[in-house]
Amino acid sequence: MSGNSANQHHWSGVLSSALDAVGHTPLIHLKRIQEAQGLQCRLLGKVEFFSAGGSVKDRIAKRMVEEAEKDGRLIPGKSVIIEPTSGNTGMGLALASALKGYQCIITLPAKMSLEKEVMLRALGAEIVRTPSWDSPESHIGVAHKLRDSMPNAVILDQYSNPNNPLAHYHTTFPEIMASPSSDFENKEIDLIVAGAGTGGTITGLSDAIRDREKAFPEKNKTTVVAVDPVGSILGGGEPGNYAVEGIGYDFFPEVLKPNAPSIDDWVKVNDDEAFAMTKLMIRKEALFVGGSSGSALAGALKYLHSPKGQSIASNPNANVIIILPDGVRNYLSKDWFLEGAQGPSNPLREKMREIIGRELGDAYGTGSGVPSTRKEKKNDEALNGEVSDKLGSVHLEDVVGESK
Ligand SMILES: Cc1ncc(COP(=O)(O)O)c(C=O)c1O
Repeated sequence: MSGNSANQHHWSGVLSSALDAVGHTPLIHLKRIQEAQGLQCRLLGKVEFFSAGGSVKDRIAKRMVEEAEKDGRLIPGKSVIIEPTSGNTGMGLALASALKGYQCIITLPAKMSLEKEVMLRALGAEIVRTPSWDSPESHIGVAHKLRDSMPNAVILDQYSNPNNPLAHYHTTFPEIMASPSSDFENKEIDLIVAGAGTGGTITGLSDAIRDREKAFPEKNKTTVVAVDPVGSILGGGEPGNYAVEGIGYDFFPEVLKPNAPSIDDWVKVNDDEAFAMTKLMIRKEALFVGGSSGSALAGALKYLHSPKGQSIASNPNANVIIILPDGVRNYLSKDWFLEGAQGPSNPLREKMREIIGRELGDAYGTGSGVPSTRKEKKNDEALNGEVSDKLGSVHLEDVVGESK
C-alpha cells in the first residue's frame, strides 16, 4: 500500500456508464472493532458494496463480458447471457446486459434472497429459481439445459472462467496496494482474509500477492486466509445447510486453488458468528455490509486470536485486509437482519417511552428486543388505535396528495 490520501480519489470526472463505477472501492479502517478486540494490528476492510452493482462480483462480470466481446463469443444485441450464480455475479452481468443490450437469464438457488431476485428483474434479467446444488435441476444444470437449447446463448461460467480470478489480480489487488496510507510506516499486506465461493476473489488476490513476493523477495510474505461456512466442504468438514449467501460449496470450483502456496489457512465460521459480526460492523463501523462480510470478519478475528495469528495481531505496524463482498441491501428481508443488533434491554428506549407516554410504535414493539415481520404486523395492529389517537393517522396517499 502506498500513495497519498490528498491525491487519491475513487472516481473523478464524468463516467461514461455505471460500468465505469465498478470497483474502485474504499479501504476503510475498522478501528472501533480493532480496538474493542484488543488488536494492535490495523484491521482494514475493502468495502465492495460501493461498487455500481453492489458487490465484489461486479468486477468479474465486467471482465468476463469485456473479454468475451473481444474474442467474439458475445455479440451485443444478439447474444443471450445465461449464468448460474448466487446472485451477485448475476447482478454484475445484468448491469452489463442492460447497458450493452444483451438478454440475460440468471439461474438462482432457492435459498438466495428475494432482494437479489427483484434487483435482477429491475435490471431486465429473467430468473429461474432452482432447488439444489448437486442435481441436474441445480442452478448449474438448468443453466446448461437452457444454453444447449437456445440460439446465441452463452454461459460465461464464473466457476471455470480465468477472467474471474484475473479481475481481482488486475483490479482488487492493485487498488489495495494503491490505497492511501502515507502515514503507515509499513505499506505491505501482512494478512489478507476473504471468503471463498467460486474462489475467484481469494485465488486472484493470492496469485497477485505471490507474484509480487517473487518480484520482491526481500519483503515479508503475506499470509492468505480463506473463510468457509460450516456446512461447506471447501475448508473441510461435512456438507450441510447454512444461511450465509455467496460463499461455500459442496464441490470444488475449477478457479479455486485451495492449497498452499495460494492459501495458507482455512477458517470455518458458522451462521451465528457471521451474522453477529455483520451487525457489529453495521453498528460500530456504520458499514452496511452483508452476511458474508460478517463471515470474513469473524474468520479474521478467529485467526488473529489463534496462536498462528499472534505475531500479526500484536504488531502495530501490521496491515490486515478483510474483503467485505457485498451490502445488506441484498438481505433486508432476512430474519437474521430483521432481528436487529439491539439487545432486549435498552435504557434509552425506556426513557423515550417514559417521555412520550406510550409505546414507540417501531418494529421492536414492546421492548422485548425480538422483532420479526410477524411481530411488526401485530405491533402495528395493536398500536394503530393508540398512535392514531395521539397523532391522527397519516397515510402515504395524504402526503403524496398534498404535493400534487
Ligand atoms: C456475497 C458474496 N460473498 C462472497 C462471495 C465469494 O466470492 P468468490 O466467488 O470470488 O469466491 C460471493 C460470490 O458470489 C458473494 O456473492
